[in-house]
Amino acid sequence: MTSNQAAADPTLTPAWAELAALAAALDGTTIRALCEGDPQRLDSLAWTGAGVSLDATRQRVTPDVVAALLRLAQERDVLARRDQMLAGGHINVTEDRAVLHTALRAPAGSALVVDGQDVSADVQDVLARMSAFADDVRSGAWMGASGQRISAVVNIGIGGSDLGPAMAYLALRHFSDRDMTFRFVSNVDPTDMVEALHGLDPAETLVIVASKTFTTLETMSNAHAARDWVVGALGEDAVSRHFVAVSTNAELVERFGIDTANMFGFWDWVGGRYSMDSSIGLSTMIAIGPAGFRDLLAGFHAMDVHFASAPAEANLPLLMGLLAVWNRNFLGIQMTAVLPYSQYLSRFPAYLQQLTMESNGKSVRLDGAPVGYDTGAVFWGEPGTNGQHSFYQLLHQGTTTVACDVIVVARSDNPLGDQQDMLVANALAQASVLSMGRTSAEVAADGTPAALVPHKVMPGNRPVSVIMVESLRPHALGALVALYEHSVFTQGAVWGIDSFDQWGVELGKKVAMGILGDLRAGSADDPVLDGPTRASVERYLAMRG
Ligand code: F6P
Repeated sequence: MTSNQAAADPTLTPAWAELAALAAALDGTTIRALCEGDPQRLDSLAWTGAGVSLDATRQRVTPDVVAALLRLAQERDVLARRDQMLAGGHINVTEDRAVLHTALRAPAGSALVVDGQDVSADVQDVLARMSAFADDVRSGAWMGASGQRISAVVNIGIGGSDLGPAMAYLALRHFSDRDMTFRFVSNVDPTDMVEALHGLDPAETLVIVASKTFTTLETMSNAHAARDWVVGALGEDAVSRHFVAVSTNAELVERFGIDTANMFGFWDWVGGRYSMDSSIGLSTMIAIGPAGFRDLLAGFHAMDVHFASAPAEANLPLLMGLLAVWNRNFLGIQMTAVLPYSQYLSRFPAYLQQLTMESNGKSVRLDGAPVGYDTGAVFWGEPGTNGQHSFYQLLHQGTTTVACDVIVVARSDNPLGDQQDMLVANALAQASVLSMGRTSAEVAADGTPAALVPHKVMPGNRPVSVIMVESLRPHALGALVALYEHSVFTQGAVWGIDSFDQWGVELGKKVAMGILGDLRAGSADDPVLDGPTRASVERYLAMRG
């Protein structure tokens, strides 16, 4: 083994071998047995940071496993890589870019010069412009072309230019200006646009075109459709009062007809899925106000500081990421269900899908060699309690083990009788049943007829983390998102992959453009089409008529 191989391949580290041995030794030991055998578990497997508590007592781990995972982090230089990221090193190797979403939420004056640029001054400058604009829209000082106050904001974007703003708007709705309407359009399916504009008055609508590149097919098509809608009602001159852009591409923004004075920039060191706290969050800022947005940024920053400075053995994102590696590589678990027990967090699983899967859905290492081990898990989920009445059956008794993140918000902003206690009782009940299960002897002891006993046995042993925050104020949301961001980073650093590129999504876009040409021409004769695609094109053309 050369030292280069050892540096690139985590499976060659001593800690990896140690963890494999620990996993073999734990085979057949249940989470229930682990909990019953170690009353001190709560002291060693639950941590708090930046107002977020992470209870991993229901994970299929022992303190020895956690210690070995921390050694793995050390042998993989995870913390050195973290420091490189925070200092603006080009850790996005395949795109040769810095990865600096943490700079977006650093307080003013945090001197950070990257590639010769004063990053913190740039960030504060954009934040100040966003704040002034958001205040103007909220107060009515910014008016539409016909002098009417803006009452509706439509954010057009997709992926990171949609999921963060859409998730955050829902999550922070309690803090939003209820006199305003916010809608989010992402899909190139015209229905998305048409339904989003339904009932809106162009004279009172502000459209935010959010696209890092300003080239994305879906966003640009929808932006042009919205432009036609505004121009049709108010004339060409209205564009400058009804459109603003959030982008890194001033040239294309200008070509679209948006005055660059009404463009809010960000930088190539902000990945799309890490951008909800950049100017991509303009809709969030208009909804909750600049002070609320600053609180959101402060929450992100609190978790950044924790990640940067807490000792490894109490470092939430590091530990969460290492537990994900354990589940994935040593227990062979392929999926994580995100189960927020908060209606406000109903889009959080969708948001995390992009964050986790676009980041760590990779099968080559940084050096281009194929990985010989599993990387990013599949993430999905729905808010509880709704999921309980839908897919939890499989979580409890299916043949696939799914790790679960149960997210609890302790205080409701909408107290209604004792419904909040009901909600949390359900969250904790599910965490308990998923992990501890119910044996056949226990089921039989309830007087269950013998024939039914096997059907009612709950295998348990599903690893569960319970993540709890006090309330869902903007600060807590920021801390929660940053927790997942840094957990994703940790996993990618262990696996030695580039968590910040997304080459896998490009080919599909290119092929779609080719097929679109064929559909526009009404012909399936294109020689580059593969057989099944040609047949599908023909079928579509026939059905479309
Ligand atoms: O196709 C994937 C992607 O590039 C995401 O990474 C990104 O968040 C999304 O498209 C939108 O890109 P843009 O903001 O450039 O329109």
